[in-house]
Parts: sequence; C-alpha cells; structure tokens
Amino acid sequence: MFTVAVLISGAGSNLRALLEAARHPDFPARVIVVGADREAAGLAHAEEFGMPSFVVPWRGAAEREAWGDELNEQLAAWSPDLVVLSGLMRLVPPAVVSAWAPRLINTHPAHLPEFPGAHAVRDALAAGATTTGASVIVVDDGVDSGPILAQERVAVLPGDDETTLHERIKPVERRLLIDVVRRFATGELDPAAIAAS
Ligand code: GRF
Repeated sequence: MFTVAVLISGAGSNLRALLEAARHPDFPARVIVVGADREAAGLAHAEEFGMPSFVVPWRGAAEREAWGDELNEQLAAWSPDLVVLSGLMRLVPPAVVSAWAPRLINTHPAHLPEFPGAHAVRDALAAGATTTGASVIVVDDGVDSGPILAQERVAVLPGDDETTLHERIKPVERRLLIDVVRRFATGELDPAAIAAS
C-alpha cells in the first residue's frame, strides 16, 4: 500500500480531508503518520483517526538545520512513499528537500507562481486580484517555486476578507491534493519524471 506522511502546523482541515479520503477502501494510499512543528490543533484529527503522530518543535530560524535533521529522522522511521506538507508553516531546509523530493509535495492557497509565501491569501486581496487559486507543487529549495502538479483558479468575490477567501480556496486545495496523492499512488505521477522536468 502506498504510504503517506502529512506535516501540519495549524487546523489541519486539509489533513482531515486526506484522512477521510484514505478511509475509502478503493483509495490507493494510506496516511501512516502525522507530524507537526508544534502542538498543532490539527493533531486532534490524527488522534480521532487513530493515527500515530509526532512533534518536532520549531526552535527558531537559528536551529532550522537541526530541526530539519530531526524531522528527517522522524520521517525515516516511517519511510513513507510520499510526504505531504499541508499547512506546515515552515520552509523545510535543504536536507529535507534532498532527502524526500520529489516525493515531497506542498499545498498552497494561490495560483502559483502568483502569490508565493506565507501570506498568499492576504497578498491576493491586497493586490486587488479578481481571481486567485490553489496549487499543489513539488517542494524545492525555493519558496513555493517547485514543479506544479495541479492547480485551479478560485474567484475573489467583492467583500471577501482573508477568511472568506481562504475558506473558498481550501475545498479546492483538498480536492487537488487528494487527486495528486491518488496519482502518485497509482504511478500516474512518476517522481523520476518530475525530478527530471
Ligand atoms: C492551507 O490553505 C494551506 O495551503 C496553507 O495553510 C492552510 C492550512 O489549512 N499553507 P489547514 O491547516 O489544512 O486547515
């Protein structure tokens, strides 16, 4: 069975969507562990689904490399086929990218390369964008700059604030993420081909 590790920092609604999808017997992947950089609220979903979890506490940018090495150790213990960053609000260090990419993907609430970085929804509103989107990408050493695996436009509506817009984006993110995981699991997405692209 194709195995997936999911890393979060926040509410984990995208994680929950993946846990629910993976419950279906015909879904070709299983989440085997959930990791976080803090005692994230989303760890409650792992608990509810009887899923093992771990926390590698973020101890500041000065410790970023050490944090990455500890994260690699935790992930290596599970040796997942795919690592999904789903609301992990950290730039993983090069040692994590080199250990896992291209089997290391991230969901982003914008239509990359538009609005990379940690405030994509806020940036789209500030730019007066009339559309934004959701993207699933391979993580590289840049900021949301890796190969795009899936993306879809999402409308920005008059009166939107960061919450209403983000809540409109998230269901699209979840659908794209679940489909990308499925495509990895069925071999439709070939990591070697992605790495060569
Ligand atoms: C998602 O939109 C993700 O792309 C972004 O933060 C949000 C996390 O939401 N990085 P949740 O924690 O999955 O609810």
